[in-house]
Amino acid sequence: MQPASLKKYRPFPPIHLPDRTWPDKVIDRAPEWCSVDLRDGNQALPQPMSVEEKLEFFDLLVGVGFKQIEVGFPSAADTEFNFLRRLIDENRIPDDVTIQVLVQTRDHLIRKTFDAINGAKRAIVHIYNSTSPLQRRVTFGDATRESIRDIALEGARLVKELVPTIPNTEVVLQYSPESFSDTELDFALECCAGVIDIWQPTPEKKMIINLPDTVQWATPNIHADMIEWMSRHLTRRDSVIVSLHTHNDRGTGVAATELGLMAGADRVEGTLFGNGERTGNLDIVTVALNMNSHGIATGLDFSNLSTIRAVYERVTRLPVPERQPYAGELVFTAFSGSHQDAIKKGLDRRAREVAKDPDIPWGVPYLTIDPQDIGRSYEAIIRINSQSGKGGVAYVLDREHGFDLPKTRQHLLPRRLHGFAGKSECRVYCTR
Ligand code: KIV
Ligand code: ZN
Repeated sequence: MQPASLKKYRPFPPIHLPDRTWPDKVIDRAPEWCSVDLRDGNQALPQPMSVEEKLEFFDLLVGVGFKQIEVGFPSAADTEFNFLRRLIDENRIPDDVTIQVLVQTRDHLIRKTFDAINGAKRAIVHIYNSTSPLQRRVTFGDATRESIRDIALEGARLVKELVPTIPNTEVVLQYSPESFSDTELDFALECCAGVIDIWQPTPEKKMIINLPDTVQWATPNIHADMIEWMSRHLTRRDSVIVSLHTHNDRGTGVAATELGLMAGADRVEGTLFGNGERTGNLDIVTVALNMNSHGIATGLDFSNLSTIRAVYERVTRLPVPERQPYAGELVFTAFSGSHQDAIKKGLDRRAREVAKDPDIPWGVPYLTIDPQDIGRSYEAIIRINSQSGKGGVAYVLDREHGFDLPKTRQHLLPRRLHGFAGKSECRVYCTR
């Protein structure tokens, strides 16, 4: 930007939390996960999914292991309502999966939402209203804090009144102060505390307070401070599940979520590969596989990531970028000769070590995980191009043609191969 443009912007004020504890915390267990692909993700698609595509995506999410799935905004459009009714009426929701529905805190929308979930075994009703000073001023025309808080409270009261009207559905309650990321903490707390007071959760029947990083205005440490502050100040904390919902405007959705978990959150909302409004929602695949890479079980199974990606790309009509962590086409591909050499040494050494001790920890240079654990192949790791050098050529000869050349003979190799030298299913290309 030109210096003149910078005059428009201001630093984001830090949170006063000198006794913050999150920096010393270590993530040692997985949160509850909730996919918002079919709502936040779908609403952000240039061409939203059809009902058939949503049904396929729902099955995909169930297969991955999600136990909470936000299935839409049924009061917003007939297609959303009809999709949800098909899930319920055709018994497509497994017993251990809870659907979630989103609705603004508005009377007629809340009533329609209860009609939509009637008959589901279990459903999370997620109400929200926007709370930040910017939204109060601009979107709601200088609305007062009190009037915004009252919108939340009125919605919460109506929800409480409607729960007994659908006795066959177990309803779990969730409230989001939307735009939490730039809401004054004391006001976010006031809205949440008011809703908690109406819903009266208990440790046996908890409710969810979702604290959305609706727009990422600040660095992830500030997000973590905000989460720790809320987590400490929330009333009935033992009866509340604190949930994260980070977007990715600053490219730090994953970081904000990880620090938010360190700061005390219990639950994470996000999407596969980070689809969502603007720069997207949190990429749950990355956070879950980051945990796996530290030996933490997540309950989500991405062992067949390429298949998951293929379904995702087909139904969303969005490509997964080539450098997307874990899933991108190129993320297990080394171009530089020195990287290729180190990887080859690492893989060879590991093969020898594993033969002696199958539980030996992973340790291959440049590869944070074993690509095979997510259905990727070693053959995809090396591409030979003009930068690859003799190490890469030796690797291809070994892997593709079974010629394990001794180091002393590798100097006889050309510095590069010409033409395609791979098996049909692998991606080893030799270029000038
Ligand atoms: O980003 C957001 O704030 C949302 C809310 C509706 C939870 O999607
Ligand atoms: Zn969102």
